[in-house]
Amino acid sequence: MNEIIEFIKKSPKAELHLHIEGTLEPELLFKLAKRNNIKIPYLNIAELKSAYNFTDLESFLNIFYQGSKVLIKEQDFFDLTWSYVLKCREDNIVHTEIFFDPQSHVNRGVNFNLVINGIYNALEKANKEFGLTSKIIMCFLRHLDESSALEILDQALIHKDKIVAVGLDSSEIGHPPRKFERVFKKAIEKGFLTVAHAGEEGPPEYIWEALNFLKVRRIDHGVQCFKDEQLVQKLIKEQIPLTVCPLSNIKLRVFNKLQDHNLKKMLDRGLMIMLNSDDPAYFGGYINKNYIESQKALNLSLKEVKTIIINSFKSSFLDQKKKEEWISQI
Ligand code: HPA
Ligand code: ZN
Repeated sequence: MNEIIEFIKKSPKAELHLHIEGTLEPELLFKLAKRNNIKIPYLNIAELKSAYNFTDLESFLNIFYQGSKVLIKEQDFFDLTWSYVLKCREDNIVHTEIFFDPQSHVNRGVNFNLVINGIYNALEKANKEFGLTSKIIMCFLRHLDESSALEILDQALIHKDKIVAVGLDSSEIGHPPRKFERVFKKAIEKGFLTVAHAGEEGPPEYIWEALNFLKVRRIDHGVQCFKDEQLVQKLIKEQIPLTVCPLSNIKLRVFNKLQDHNLKKMLDRGLMIMLNSDDPAYFGGYINKNYIESQKALNLSLKEVKTIIINSFKSSFLDQKKKEEWISQI
């Protein structure tokens, strides 16, 4: 038992589903609110944390977007990202692929360039100082319309050297992936890779749509896939990665408790899954906690843990040689 937990802690890992705005810890949130003179409706950290009692995705997103409002200057985005990369070092994440939500910043008057530069410079510094490698994925907010996504894609083009992929996040139900078919087509033409949140709360049809209309390389979450056996067969056959986020799913009540999570069943069926922390400052833990709590709740064997970690590299956007180098160390 302890041997498995030690293995989890020490093993190099890749993280593929992480919203950088979701790493904003209450302490930094308060610090930035003060620095930028922004009023927040909580008296102290304890009061803020007591609001982190979510009933579903929507109830979380309200708090999440409110929290992001303290991010104004390039230095704020740098500090946010720097805090996260230190967690990567602590948890032995050696490669990370992070999301950011530019529309949630640009739409309140924050300049796109300063957002991307703050994030990128912190990632570059981490690479130089301790070898962390990373990729940046720009997400479109699906509760907004496609024309807004097309506008933000235009702004991203001059940063094509810093952004490798586009994704789709925010409120899922009522916002099917096909709503974004044109913007994803344009992104692919411009050379971006694609991913999308699908089947977190929404139906398996949304996973089909993400695959067929958005041509995604990975599905973020995907835990609702078992409602459609034909879909499961396709995901297994094509080894399409599903970026599973166990603690997130409990906090947002997709499953009642970790013991009920279907990640072991996914593994048993041969689906290409790995574990991720999603919005760790809001969901109670970074990547090692996601692995350790899942291992305990579902009694995962050392072999199963190794498979999940190997999958994290296999499913990444690293080149084949780099993937093989990391996998040989697991
Ligand atoms: N789901 C959808 N959108 C999000 C999430 C999530 O878990 N976190 C931040 N934006
Ligand atoms: Zn997410």
